Amino acid sequence: MIKTRFTELVGVEHPIVQGGMQWVGRAELVAAVANAGALGFITALTQPTPDDLTREIARCRGLTDKPFGVNLTILPSIKPPPHAEYRQAIIESGIKIVETAGNKPQEHVTEFKRHGVVVVHKCTSVRHALSAERMGVDAISIDGFECAGHPGEDDTPGLILIPVAADKVKIPLIASGGFGDGRGLVAALALGAEGINMGTRFMCTKEAPRSSPWRKKARPSSRSVNSSPGPAARWSTRRATPTKASGRQARCKG
Ligand SMILES: Cc1cc2nc3c(=O)[nH]c(=O)nc-3n(C[C@H](O)[C@H](O)[C@H](O)COP(=O)(O)O)c2cc1C
Repeated sequence: MIKTRFTELVGVEHPIVQGGMQWVGRAELVAAVANAGALGFITALTQPTPDDLTREIARCRGLTDKPFGVNLTILPSIKPPPHAEYRQAIIESGIKIVETAGNKPQEHVTEFKRHGVVVVHKCTSVRHALSAERMGVDAISIDGFECAGHPGEDDTPGLILIPVAADKVKIPLIASGGFGDGRGLVAALALGAEGINMGTRFMCTKEAPRSSPWRKKARPSSRSVNSSPGPAARWSTRRATPTKASGRQARCKG
């Protein structure tokens, strides 16, 4: 067991996080991650409505009694989803840990903090990390250019971004992008992070929903959340990038 300020903050055994993943972050995967002693996030916007999110949270509670959280992704969009209503569903469901990602989370951070929710903000640059710290978030998840999802606009790889962020940010910081096994975790800790966040590695587990458009593109895997990663986790993260696959969302994670 590796104890860090991050594991203490969110109350999990291992400094490992399964970040929000559109179409992938559903109850079965999140509960499997939680039962393995790490922190999983249900992806709010995968649920068609805030009421569906409430039901998904309840479903997850039926599968684990360990802590888990919800990811709320706030991206610029011509027709934005009702973020405030999803936020309300999260708060009313009694969720105590949230991962925010995307533009200007202030309004959400203020509301979550008012209700005693721990906020982990995921971003791709030191300036956004510092800005989120000033907004009052509890931890930062810093995503290098290697990450799947939205790699931001600065294109800074983790080997450069993580130590610089660790030097500047005072609250707990976890490293994200391209991590897939224990070697990566040790490297992240050496770079000054207090844990890692993984997406692709978890997408390639048997607990991830096979129906997701991204999961279908991954090599079939019989590996579970608990097993060592093997070839599936080395599958290119770039090919899992929703931006490239769908082009629906803007390429930024402010
Ligand atoms: C299929 C897929 C969908 C994702 N969707 C989201 C999302 O909706 N919101 C978000 O904050 N991050 C999203 N991510 C990013 C992950 O939470 C995580 O930050 C990223 O995958 C880390 O990089 P890695 O895949 O190299 O481990 C997604 C990642 C994947 C693989």
